[in-house]
Amino acid sequence: MVFAVRVVAMTVNSWGCVGQGSALRSSPLFHAGCEPPPPDRHDGPVSFYDEIGGEETITRIVARFYAGVAGDEVLRPMYPEEDLGPAEERFRLFLMQYWGGPTTYSERRGHPRLRMRHAPFPVDPTARDHWLKHFRDALDEVALPPEQDQQFWDYVTHAAQFMVNTMET
Ligand code: HEM
Repeated sequence: MVFAVRVVAMTVNSWGCVGQGSALRSSPLFHAGCEPPPPDRHDGPVSFYDEIGGEETITRIVARFYAGVAGDEVLRPMYPEEDLGPAEERFRLFLMQYWGGPTTYSERRGHPRLRMRHAPFPVDPTARDHWLKHFRDALDEVALPPEQDQQFWDYVTHAAQFMVNTMET
């Protein structure tokens, strides 16, 4: 058991999911939709970030998401700062970089190490479901074409599952 936990910790990539080339490719923890996009999505003329409308679209998604968090009785108490603005900005920059936009997130915050950064917060299945409900509302608001909506949704649903760190409510 201890060994299994260490293997997972060593192979999880810093974007919150098990990375490519991992020995755990066949593990239920591995999800293609959970990996950072391959390098060509960053370097090519049209990244997924560009395809969906870049900063403007991601800003709208994250603003809608945080409006949901602000009124959520489960999630709001988990956020340490009274002002949600800085948290919103971190998440916005993270998603921009994840999908192939500017790398400002890493320049400011270093490696994402999302599992580790969420460790102080008790993310149980209820918190995950609340989180995903607000993200679903946010994606609905920007109404991406179905294929892009699916790609975005696949990533966040897998990543949200991966962030669950307790079963205790
Ligand atoms: C599953 C439910 C989740 C809960 C309850 C949750 C909760 C939180 C909380 C309380 C913070 C601290 C706010 C701050 O001060 O920045 C945070 C930070 C963050 N979360 Fe989540 N989160 C969840 C899922 C996710 C997912 C799925 C992603 C990515 C797709 C994500 C990305 C981030 C990022 C990028 C930060 C800021 C990290 C940094 O400090 O640089 N979270 N989250």
